[in-house]
Amino acid sequence: MRRPALACLALAALAVAATSHAQTQAPLKVGLMLPSTGTFAALGDMIERGFKMHVEEQGGKLGGRTIQYFKVDDESEPSKATDNVNKLIKRDNVDVIVGTVHSGVALGMARAAKESGTLLIVPNAGADAITGPQCAPNIFRSSFSNWQPGYATGVVAAGKGYKRAMTITWGYAAGLETVKGFTEAFEKGGGKVMKDLTLPFPNVEFQPLLTEIAAQKPDVVFAFFAGGGAVKFVKDYDAAGLKRSIPLMGSGFLTDGTLEAQGASAQGLITALHYGDNIETPRNTAFRNKFAVTYKVNPDVYAMQGYDAAQMLAAGLTAVKGDMGKKDALYAAMKKAQIDSPRGKFTLSAQHNPTQDFYIREVKGNYNVVTGVAVKALADPGRGCKM
Ligand code: PHB
Repeated sequence: MRRPALACLALAALAVAATSHAQTQAPLKVGLMLPSTGTFAALGDMIERGFKMHVEEQGGKLGGRTIQYFKVDDESEPSKATDNVNKLIKRDNVDVIVGTVHSGVALGMARAAKESGTLLIVPNAGADAITGPQCAPNIFRSSFSNWQPGYATGVVAAGKGYKRAMTITWGYAAGLETVKGFTEAFEKGGGKVMKDLTLPFPNVEFQPLLTEIAAQKPDVVFAFFAGGGAVKFVKDYDAAGLKRSIPLMGSGFLTDGTLEAQGASAQGLITALHYGDNIETPRNTAFRNKFAVTYKVNPDVYAMQGYDAAQMLAAGLTAVKGDMGKKDALYAAMKKAQIDSPRGKFTLSAQHNPTQDFYIREVKGNYNVVTGVAVKALADPGRGCKM
């Protein structure tokens, strides 16, 4: 009686091993949920290029698995986020989701990822809640929390001795949370935010708000805009004659990936961000050269974040030899990885958000030139995360 039972057990073990082997041989399905239309379209494109470039550098494989891509255009439209992410989770049955740019869309994605247990790597959207109250073992970010660049820019503005600031942004999570970070640091440094101006995302009717800034005459204006909206804002600020009289600062998205279109209007603007064009390390130089040769365009912060999303996934997959079933080991390896990023090496906070240096940058020609460090190793406070 014992022999058949043992044989059964052995067969079952073989079957399990065979299934696991088959699963680690099949292509790994990566769902890219990014905007390819709207004001953030160029940002989504750069993230995808960066991600794919790292995969190509690894011979098209991560952890021994070839990569198969599935794509959804999220249009930066929060109301469609759940339906869109479920196309990847339920229809395409992807192993990992990479996305997105817009904080409101990313919050919907994080909810769906938490419910389904699908691995999510956020390559831009800074919504504080993703590595705060909505944090989860299967949710990681390769970019920043909105609080971080806002806070870093506030440190720089206060350091310049400005006392009275006005802020201007789109009235959604990214804008509001970035302004909150700015205000926290600026007021801690002795300044006062007199007034916050907002308009709905992705509107670009800035004129009435610029008129109000001209009337109030603050020492400095802090702005969060990005993509197409940032191009228009910087040009309008200049055209209104404000650039000459009231210094404009912003988190670095205001001038990243936008400089050719902004032209003279952006020259001299000072921002803070976790990347700059001329970080002179062998790692960044190699990244920039390879990107320029591959895509015939210079990389920006978004390309770098996409590249690092792939590096984070690679760190996890290598540790489990491509076996996505070993979730605990996969997440543990991602969590403890030190990522050799073009921005400089970084690690993740307990809530899975990069702890990283924020640079002071000044626009010179078509480059955001690093002139100093705003805050070293800035960690998001991760408020409200229980994991
Ligand atoms: C966001 O919505 O979180 C967001 C969008 C564009 C950026 C940065 C943050 O450049």
